[in-house]
Amino acid sequence: MSVMVESDTAITARKSLPVCVVDDDADQVELTATRLEKAGFPVTGTTDPQEALQRVRMGGYRVVLADLKMPAMDGLTFLDKTLEYDPGTYVILITGYYSVDSAIEAIKRGAYDYLCKPLDFLRLEKALDDLATVFSQRSEVRGLEEKLLQNVQFEGIVGRSPAMLEVFDLARKVARHYSNVLVTGPTGAGKELVARALHRLSPVAQERFAICNCSALVDTLLESQLFGHVRGSFTGASDTRPGLFEYANGGTVFLDEIGETSPQVQAKLLRVIHNREIQRVGSPEVRKVDVRLIAATNRDLRAEVLTGRFREDLFYRLSSIEIRVPGLSERPEDIPMLVQHFLKKYSQAYGKRLQGLTRRAQLVLLRHDWPGNVRELENVISSAAITANTDFIDVGDLPPHLQKPLGRTVPAGENWRPLPLDEVRKIHIQRVLELCKGNRVRAAQTLGIGRTSLYRFLKRSEKKAAAAKEGV
Ligand SMILES: Nc1ncnc2c1ncn2[C@@H]1O[C@H](COP(=O)(O)OP(=O)(O)OP(=O)(O)O)[C@@H](O)[C@H]1O
Ligand SMILES: [Mg+2]
Repeated sequence: MSVMVESDTAITARKSLPVCVVDDDADQVELTATRLEKAGFPVTGTTDPQEALQRVRMGGYRVVLADLKMPAMDGLTFLDKTLEYDPGTYVILITGYYSVDSAIEAIKRGAYDYLCKPLDFLRLEKALDDLATVFSQRSEVRGLEEKLLQNVQFEGIVGRSPAMLEVFDLARKVARHYSNVLVTGPTGAGKELVARALHRLSPVAQERFAICNCSALVDTLLESQLFGHVRGSFTGASDTRPGLFEYANGGTVFLDEIGETSPQVQAKLLRVIHNREIQRVGSPEVRKVDVRLIAATNRDLRAEVLTGRFREDLFYRLSSIEIRVPGLSERPEDIPMLVQHFLKKYSQAYGKRLQGLTRRAQLVLLRHDWPGNVRELENVISSAAITANTDFIDVGDLPPHLQKPLGRTVPAGENWRPLPLDEVRKIHIQRVLELCKGNRVRAAQTLGIGRTSLYRFLKRSEKKAAAAKEGV
């Protein structure tokens, strides 16, 4: 019985291993194809290497058996091209002129095996069965990973590192009781996701969750956005409007980038926290609001307090509960699961059937230090998902700066000079732009900053350069 089950499994595994046979000798193609078909493998044969490559490019094969000496294209060139088109394909080269040296050369160049003519079909079937087992094990692992992925999510936030499990734990505990929470961490680490999770798990989840990006507006507009205004209170205030605090009354207000607020706004926020009271701009009337407040920042607010840029009392009120979301370089063990999560997301979005990354592409991702954190990783996977023309993302689909990694730190070698920070920033941005071949969107992603920030910076540098020229 167990033998029966085993052979059933083997037959199923063979069925899912499509093989392409290419040889300039039509009889050889016919013989091999018939034999392998009988053994249960789906086979296509051709005498034209170009046609075989075309098929590989379309992604239909797992294994290609190729003759080493073909007049139209020699087997080693065929091997290179196949691996270029689809690095996930296994190529078995077949030759009538076997030598150990040529076998080693072929394996070094990426061939899976090297067999001699006349073909020993038992050996060939054994090699193919081994591969079929590898593939079925892999798909089993993928199934398990898929299940695991479902279990390593907290409210849509993927993470299995101890640092993230701590974040999830704290968020779960805090969500039911908080009135003010401070979420800190570097850009793109997932602060907004944590804020949304806090709201969803809070008793006011059915109420509104209103977001205000404090760095996007000048002071007067920010105040009016938060607290509302009455008609005529400033130029352009043509009607009376409630602000976010009133809009989200009963729910949650998320103040993003709170470190960017002016002392004036900070004073007003302190009042909201103390008394849960607001005044619309231009109105003496004091209104009560019942809101939960989540603030986020990627700045070191303690340092900002020390330099006097952030109010100490506001900081202490806000940070009585602080959730710190660690950057990706502090939790590299989360990278594989995040990659899988984004692969699934973008495979679906672009209607592809991406299975994973080649081993060398995985290594490149693990070596990178992700200054733009999860957002940068998401961008990398989403653009690779667009360019990948096989089921596996390869190094060539990754942005150029990852393929040729920049030094992690400025080497304190001969070229090092104690430059002002502004200068270092300028040089760094220029280098990244060069690596991205002038593509500003990609450069901004790499730098982990918004596109508008990059444009602003470039405009400022142009102005400075022009002014310097005029000065000469
Ligand atoms: N752990 C995670 N699992 C899944 N997606 C994540 C995770 N962390 C971040 N993301 C995704 O990365 C992107 C950036 O996350 P988010 O906006 O929460 O970062 P942030 O810390 O608020 O960044 P910033 O400081 O720049 O505002 C979003 O698209 C988000 O969905
Ligand atoms: Mg954010």
